Order: sequence, then C-alpha cells, then structure tokens
Amino acid sequence: MKIQNFKHFQPRLVLLIYMVLIFQLVLTSCAPDDKEKIFVIKFPHVTAPATPKGQGAERLRQLVDERLGGRVKVEIYPSSQLMNDDDSLEALAFGEVQMIAVSLSKFDRLSPRFQVFDLPFLFTDLQEVEEFQASETGLMLLRTIENKGFLGLGFWHNGMKQFGAPIPLNNPADAAGLKFRIMVSDVLQAQILAMDAVPQKMAFSEVYQALQSGAIDGQENTWSNIWSQKFFEVQPYITQSNHGYLGYLLAVNTEFWRTLPDDIRTELEAIVAEVTAEVNARAEAINLEHRDLVLATGKSVLVELSEKDLEDWRAMMRPVWDQFADEIGDDVMQATAAGKVH
Ligand code: LMR
Repeated sequence: MKIQNFKHFQPRLVLLIYMVLIFQLVLTSCAPDDKEKIFVIKFPHVTAPATPKGQGAERLRQLVDERLGGRVKVEIYPSSQLMNDDDSLEALAFGEVQMIAVSLSKFDRLSPRFQVFDLPFLFTDLQEVEEFQASETGLMLLRTIENKGFLGLGFWHNGMKQFGAPIPLNNPADAAGLKFRIMVSDVLQAQILAMDAVPQKMAFSEVYQALQSGAIDGQENTWSNIWSQKFFEVQPYITQSNHGYLGYLLAVNTEFWRTLPDDIRTELEAIVAEVTAEVNARAEAINLEHRDLVLATGKSVLVELSEKDLEDWRAMMRPVWDQFADEIGDDVMQATAAGKVH
C-alpha cells in the first residue's frame, strides 16, 4: 500500500519541483538587475540653496538627471530640513544617506589631521587652500577616512570666515568676554579662548535664534552664510577678518560607492569632478556678491582692519597652531604654505 502510494506520489513531487524551479526562474528574470535598478543618492546639507554648497548640490542633481536619468536619482535636502551635520555624519556611516558635504571642521572626530583647515590665519585666501588641497598631502587627506566608511570625492569651498558681534571688533582685545558660537571643533574652541572670549559649540540651524535671544553675542561665518541665514539682522557689526577657512568634504558611503555598477560610478566620478571645479571657481564671487547684499541692507556695519590690528589678531591666535601641530602631523603642517615655517 505504502509503495503504491509512493509510486503514485512521485510524479506529483517531480512536477511540483519543476513548478518551483520555473517559478524561481520567472522571478529571477523579472527581478530588476543593475541595469533596471534606480540608485537613489540622498544628499542632506545645512546651507541655503543660494550658497556655494547649495548651488553645487543642485548642479550635481541636474547633471546626474541629464546623464544618468532613470538609473540614478539625487535627492537634495538643503537648509537642515532633513538633519543637521552631526546627524548626517552618523547617517552616512550607517548608509541611511549616501552623500554629504559637511564642513571639514566637523571631520576632526574622524581624523585629527583635518584640524589643519581650522587653524586661524594659516591660509591667506582660497587660492592657498586650493594649492594645499591639490597637493599630495591634500589628496591623502581626501582618502584618509575611507576605512571608516567615508570616501572623500572632493573638497568644496565656501569661503573665508568673518566675525559678527554686537560691537565693532577692531583689535582682538575688543572681543574679550564675548560669547561666540562655533562649529563643533576643538581648534575653533582654542581660537576663541585665545581671544579671551567664550566659545559655544552649536548646530548651524540654531545660530540665528541664539543671536536674536542674546544666548550668544557673536559668531564666525562666511558672507554667503551670513547672508542666507540672515545673521546680519541680529549682529550689528561684521569684522572683515578673513581669519579662517570654511570648506567641505564631499563624501559618500564607501560601501555604497564600491557596490555601484562600474559604468555608473565612472560617470558619477566625472560629474563630481566637473561640479567640484565649478563650485570652487564660483565660491569667491558668490561670497563677494553676498557681502554686497548684506551691506546694502544697512543692518550690519562693516569693520575693516588696519594692518596693525590684523597683526595683533594674527599674533593672538598664532599659539593655536602649536597647540594642535602634533595631532595634525608635521607632514600636513609642512605641506601648507604658512605651516612650512611653523
Ligand atoms: C557651520 O556650521 O557654520 C557651517 O558648517 C555651515 C556650512 O555648512 O557652511
């Protein structure tokens, strides 16, 4: 009986196995392979669309649409609307977002070597920064946190930073006792302490409110950020100090990048190179334009420094270099124009 049943059952089992195999085959052939899959790149950032970073992100989205439309989609979330910088560093590491352009200051927690970008008066202008970034050492920095999940694709400029305050800051001694918002960076903290002032680390999106309520007295930022965040409404004086550099590491999640199909990755690399060159060529002009717009409002007064006052600012902040030189490394210091003689 049993044997009879088994005999009877066997063809049905074979048929069932065939059916499962055919079903799997159909499923596999219907599943989107890399040719059909749309790769989504979520790119959150904190500045306004009009800033160098905002314009760069939008240009990147456009070029990807033009050249890789249907295969890659870039979603831009400007003005901290999705998350702040601290959260986006974490989100990139976990693969929740795929691309970021966070200020170099905030990468100090991943490698102390990035602190070089925050040293006050180390770089005179964007040209000097650019030469350093294009050097062998600069390119080494770009890849230095690759094994931590952050693959640097390029350096994007914003511009040189200016101090905003409730009083004119001519000499650094004028800043004594004032509380300044800074990015989350130990070098910037040391810089404010060197001025005998009080540093307050704070997210970018909270600065306007903090200035307005008097929770802080002043802040440091570029003209494009002062303009687009409307800081000029709540800080009566802006000292044109050009004391530090603000720029970004355009980074992707290493794993995400490596698993992209080769042809897509190659095209994206070409787009990134093109956009990086555009952003960096336009950044200074955007900042100058925004400076004019700020001053035209008449709400903030421009404080220009005499050569003598500038010398005092440099001298007061110079010890910060020595404080961080060991952590940054001699090779990196020596690769900057001014650091050669430190
Ligand atoms: C800041 O926090 O002041 C800057 O990092 C904002 C930015 O991204 O330019």
